[in-house]
Amino acid sequence: MAEVIIARDQSEAGDIAASIIVNKIITTPGTVLGLATGSTPLSTYAALARSVRDGIVDVSGVRGFALDEYLGIPAQQPQSYRSVITREVVEPLELTPEYVMTPRGTGANIESAGAEYEALMAEAGGIDIQILGIGSNGHIAFNEPGSSLASPTRIKALTEQTRQDNSRYFDSPDDVPTHCITQGLGTILRARHIILLGFGRHKARAMAAALEGPISATIPGSIVQFHPKATVIVDEAAATELANAAYYRHARRSAPWSSSKE
Ligand code: F6R
Repeated sequence: MAEVIIARDQSEAGDIAASIIVNKIITTPGTVLGLATGSTPLSTYAALARSVRDGIVDVSGVRGFALDEYLGIPAQQPQSYRSVITREVVEPLELTPEYVMTPRGTGANIESAGAEYEALMAEAGGIDIQILGIGSNGHIAFNEPGSSLASPTRIKALTEQTRQDNSRYFDSPDDVPTHCITQGLGTILRARHIILLGFGRHKARAMAAALEGPISATIPGSIVQFHPKATVIVDEAAATELANAAYYRHARRSAPWSSSKE
């Protein structure tokens, strides 16, 4: 079962996730991180940036792979995930820009971009820690409901729900691309450790379905139940529909080895 941590708020959740990542980088300076975009991982990135600024961790050898990219948005456009990762991760964490990859969302032979990205990840030795958020419909990365549990990085159509959720980053809802390129559920399952974060009441239903419902392509986030090393960190609002919340709190309080005690 995934370790489920109910944090006080996003800030504590970000501190917990960042401390797991910092400990890994200290023991493995060439750690390969899987990087999510969106609002969920921001408190984790902020906590990591503080650790870098305070000299607690040296990230000069860290490599990163973004989860996904919009199709047809040039990398230099502010809404591209390449730009977002540069602004929100590479610059504040002072990562080496050439060590951080995003899937290619433009250019010739776009149908081979997924296989190219898989090859780059394999060359880097695979992902050590994959940071994930969850969509209100249960998606992770851009694997929408119905995605194959074994899927590789590939081009996918976005649901209207996801386009609507992400329209806040665009001038008009019509500007949100209809397609993306995303790491698959099979790709994410190969990461050696996954950290799934979820905050806010609007994520509570998806989080409960992912953690406590059946493992199903209908809720792509449910693959966390199938992963040998998954840490799930939610705030109180995202925990409101968890049937086993009392058990998760008890397990966290009583685990002498846990790095995430209250
Ligand atoms: C982002 C990603 C998505 C988001 C999810 C939640 O790279 O792959 O799965 O994690 O849509 O988005 P936020 O965090 O903005 O609520």
